[in-house]
Amino acid sequence: MPFTPRVFSGVQPTGSLHLGNYLGAIRRFVAMQDSYPCLYCVVDLHAITVWQDPTELAKATRHVTAAFLAAGIDAEKNIVFNQSRVSAHAELAWIFNCVARMGWLNRMTQFKEKAGKDRENASVGLFAYPNLMAADILAYQATHVPVGEDQKQHLELTRDIAQKFNFDYAERLAELGWTDGLFPMTEPIIQGPATRVMSLRDGAKKMSKSDVSDNSRINLTDDADTIAQKVRKAKTDPEPLPSELKGLEGRPEADNLVGIYAALAETTKEAVLAEHGGAMFSAFKPALADLAVSVLAPVNTEMRRLLDDEAHLDAVLDNGSQRAAAIAGPILADVKRVVGFVG
Ligand code: TYM
Repeated sequence: MPFTPRVFSGVQPTGSLHLGNYLGAIRRFVAMQDSYPCLYCVVDLHAITVWQDPTELAKATRHVTAAFLAAGIDAEKNIVFNQSRVSAHAELAWIFNCVARMGWLNRMTQFKEKAGKDRENASVGLFAYPNLMAADILAYQATHVPVGEDQKQHLELTRDIAQKFNFDYAERLAELGWTDGLFPMTEPIIQGPATRVMSLRDGAKKMSKSDVSDNSRINLTDDADTIAQKVRKAKTDPEPLPSELKGLEGRPEADNLVGIYAALAETTKEAVLAEHGGAMFSAFKPALADLAVSVLAPVNTEMRRLLDDEAHLDAVLDNGSQRAAAIAGPILADVKRVVGFVG
């Protein structure tokens, strides 16, 4: 592959971060930083596809930045920044608006979910959202993108856009000597036992920032008592835990809690069942609550400390944005040359 391996991923600064964001994404970001150069982005341009109160948006941007750092992302070795600071994202997104087809975007399930019945009243930005996401990734020619399962379709679209761009401009690219195309076929990295953490109140629904019930999720800012209480109240069934994976079939709530336990303990669901198989939830839930508190409490404490030091968070974003722009700038210049823009 002619492209230098590089990781990119993003988190929206909307509402409070939860255990799904942490286990499905942020913890994976930390895991990848020893093997690749990584860019981790607070995607504030994406956030305003639905209305955001400006003061809250600024607060939420610092909140996600603090979560990245508290989780262990090294902002000196890697790049932590906010999307609106690097204009290449918006510029490349416009070009991709002209590459992607309406039919492709019409198939995006996340748009359908988020727009709901009131499609006529959704912002144009919400519809074009996946094109901006493709621009985030391809502005850095990123080769790997760690995400939760809900982003899979958007990453498939990113590959479709890269492929269509490389194909549409193949002749021009060849003239300029880029026979391998300008954009890589980015690989989604959707791994581990918690790629889709479900609501604690309903095993059929994803854990989400926008769920009206706060008991449906564990927030990264929840204190130990709140975490323990939410785990205790989590919906379950009356059966004991099975000893093997097969026994979780048709038991979404049990499956979810075992997956959360496995991700927190950095092990597999099989290993959790080997240890806890036969246990009733009255015994498993306290063990899960203790584990969740032991993993999340240090992140929580560090986040609070960082949030008190706004100047430091802003300096991290400042520095990261400059370094990100230095990578995206030349790539965007190449794109413009390929497209035929003068200057
Ligand atoms: P966002 O902000 O909704 O979520 C951030 C990350 O958390 C993951 N996630 C989950 N993982 C497991 N279980 C859950 N219940 C759960 N909920 C959320 C998401 O999959 C995501 O990895 N469109 C993206 C942000 C984005 C992006 C990008 C990601 C913008 N540009 C470029 C990767 C690359 C989003 O809304 O994520």
